Amino acid sequence: MHPLLKTPRLPLAIAVSFPLLLALLSGQAAAERRSLAQDWLFQKGEARGAERPAFDDAGWRKVAVPHDFAIMDKPDGTPPFDPKAVGGQDSGYLPGGQGWYRRHLALDAGDAARVLRLNFEAVYMDADIWFNGEHVGRHRYGYTAFTLDLTGKAKAGGNVITVRVNHADPSSRWYAGSGLIRPVTLDLLDPVHVAADSVFASTRSASSDRGEVDVRASVSNRSAAATKVEVLSTVVAGDGSTVARERRTMTVPARGKADVAHRFAVANPKLWSPDAPNLYTLVQEVRVGGVLRDTRRTRFGIRTVTVDARHGLRINGKQYVLKGGNIHHDNYMLGAAGAPDADRRKVALMKDAGYNAIRSAHNPASQATLEAADELGMLVIDEAFDMWRKPKRDADYSRFFEENWRRDIDSMVVSGRNHPSVIFWSVGNEIPEQATPEGAKTARELAARIRTLDATRPVTQGVNVDSPGNAVQFAELDVAGYNYRVHLFGSDHATHPERVMYTSESTSKDAFRYWDPVDRMPWVIGDFVWTSVDYLGETGIGWMGYSKDWKELGKYPWHLAYCGEIDATGRKRPAAYYRQVLWQSGIDPVAAFVEQPAGTEDLPDRQYFKEHPELDWSLHDLHQSWSWPGQEGKPLKVVVYAEHPEVELFLNGRSLGRKAVGRQTEYQVSYAVPYEAGRLVAVGYRDGKAADQWELRTAGAPAAVKLTVDRRQVRANGEDLAYVSAELVDANGVPVYARDGDRQFKVTVKGAGTLAGAGNGNPMDASSLQSGERATFHGRLVAVVRAGSEAGPIEVEFAGEGLPVQRVRIDAASR
Ligand code: GAL
Repeated sequence: MHPLLKTPRLPLAIAVSFPLLLALLSGQAAAERRSLAQDWLFQKGEARGAERPAFDDAGWRKVAVPHDFAIMDKPDGTPPFDPKAVGGQDSGYLPGGQGWYRRHLALDAGDAARVLRLNFEAVYMDADIWFNGEHVGRHRYGYTAFTLDLTGKAKAGGNVITVRVNHADPSSRWYAGSGLIRPVTLDLLDPVHVAADSVFASTRSASSDRGEVDVRASVSNRSAAATKVEVLSTVVAGDGSTVARERRTMTVPARGKADVAHRFAVANPKLWSPDAPNLYTLVQEVRVGGVLRDTRRTRFGIRTVTVDARHGLRINGKQYVLKGGNIHHDNYMLGAAGAPDADRRKVALMKDAGYNAIRSAHNPASQATLEAADELGMLVIDEAFDMWRKPKRDADYSRFFEENWRRDIDSMVVSGRNHPSVIFWSVGNEIPEQATPEGAKTARELAARIRTLDATRPVTQGVNVDSPGNAVQFAELDVAGYNYRVHLFGSDHATHPERVMYTSESTSKDAFRYWDPVDRMPWVIGDFVWTSVDYLGETGIGWMGYSKDWKELGKYPWHLAYCGEIDATGRKRPAAYYRQVLWQSGIDPVAAFVEQPAGTEDLPDRQYFKEHPELDWSLHDLHQSWSWPGQEGKPLKVVVYAEHPEVELFLNGRSLGRKAVGRQTEYQVSYAVPYEAGRLVAVGYRDGKAADQWELRTAGAPAAVKLTVDRRQVRANGEDLAYVSAELVDANGVPVYARDGDRQFKVTVKGAGTLAGAGNGNPMDASSLQSGERATFHGRLVAVVRAGSEAGPIEVEFAGEGLPVQRVRIDAASR
């Protein structure tokens, strides 16, 4: 990758270029974005007077952000889960509450005199911010970015930022987390600079020989004199070459702004698409009297998005269907802390499992998520709200909607609109006012506001109302999101032939039923399952289906929903393999799983709640295992998923017969196999020839743990993460999956890093996520290691009961 394309971690990354360096040497300070990830002090609960600069914070805990205080062990080391938590099943038995942060900020005289902008990417929720004792801002919504202008308020020497988070319960239908959950940064700028959030690079047209890009921005002048400025804009390709350049001069009024607009034509552009996520960087340099005052880099892609009922969704004129998954924002063992590497990993896991689209349920995605989506080629529906004026929970954002929705919508659009991955804006999910005149009016207002900031993307909403009621809502939207309404696609098309539809939420169990119309009906452009990745909160919905009494579901110690096709640690569950086959993705084209024999359940009996409603988020109870001691001779149900027209199953070399597979069998077949230990092999045939195969082997007792690490090197920046996955294996290296093989571990991290969390994906194991003391679940345990700020080796050790200790080394390299 060209250095220019090195992931700018932050939305409008400002980097030091050669001319900037010259400016620096000539006494002109370079525009700079400083990460404020380190050295925060934190105190849980009320901290009266903590906004005062002189407040004594000596006893506060030092933390790094992104930080989620709700997931942290209590001071006595016990886990944070609380069966009496007000959020209950919604929040995974994790309470909200108040928390205070303080950050001492040393600035020299030159820096203190600059234009200073303090950026919070998200604080959950209801935050008040003080700077040197002065109340400088309040931000209510927990998922939108905001900036505070500190210009003229800083002193040379010590300054203090104080943040109070007031997360009143119950605020959410899922686990929201608490605190500075996304990055915090400080911009240090010259009085003349590209105005924050003013930049918008959008594609007017895109073909293989020509791309036209409209660029809008404004230059801000905070000085007392009108200033003549020169703006040089260049478009830099992925290989570092300059593909377009434009120079403008203008006069920016004192304490005012001036707009600049260009249209670039790029010859033979490398277009952005899910298959080829090519990116460009817009570099804007602002000069006054020939001296460089600001450089702003904005990454974007050249691509068009169109939708219509005849051709569906087209990107650069080519048709795509949305192979989608809903995700929430939490990162399991890190809680809701949106560490950029953790957010990125979630996107990568989905991409690797064949998904090409994410619905960011039900709040704006983090910048790290969008950057990863840009780079990996994932399409994103960025969603604003789960409620408007009417509450879903007593202390949710509906309290603040009236006063805040405009700034929250603006924040979502402005921080997301340069990301080529974002294809639609969603104004909400299952909004209580939906499909009423009031709901239609609010959707109209929200959509209109969005279009003033970005007229290039369709506006949508997730609606769970049947026809004809839903028409009131859909009339306000460009694209209609249906939650659990596959039965309407035919009849609604007959009455609304121009309507573009997709499934914004579906149940995993019914994957075929929801995907089938996407294959057959051009106006149905995709399906987003609830959910692709498992999440904290809504405990147990993936195990039992809904009980008639919702409160009976997922009682403590449940804390995960367990409906993710990819589990909380990142392991694909059988449903994810089915989807790969359904989408003909070529990833694991044949795969076989075994239904849990009755009476052997390793989680409480899912039939405990007898009355399952029609909507059921649970997954089929299938397992990637051929170790079923005690079942000898009994018929086990083996389900084979295959993209091939024919499959054959073998047990210990004996054929159990060939079967035809295809659309007519919903791309799966099953066998009743009398259990006998050994090797179970599924073979997929194409043109009569064995093309692919899949094997399950009976495992013996665990003899070792196998460690794999997703990266061997991290930067010593206090922020990079490495994920270490541990898998139990027997003496022959066969994975040990059966629960009775699970072992207790102690994970320790030594050297230039720390243990950020460890989790096993067991929805009922509410033990500490930070201590490193944790058991495997179905043979797996994943630890997250965070780089420190000093370079050096990091040693990660897994010590399991009765097993040889295993270590892996990661290097933290200087930045
Ligand atoms: C939907 C809702 C999601 C989630 C899901 C499973 O109705 O939109 O946020 O709650 O049900 O319970």
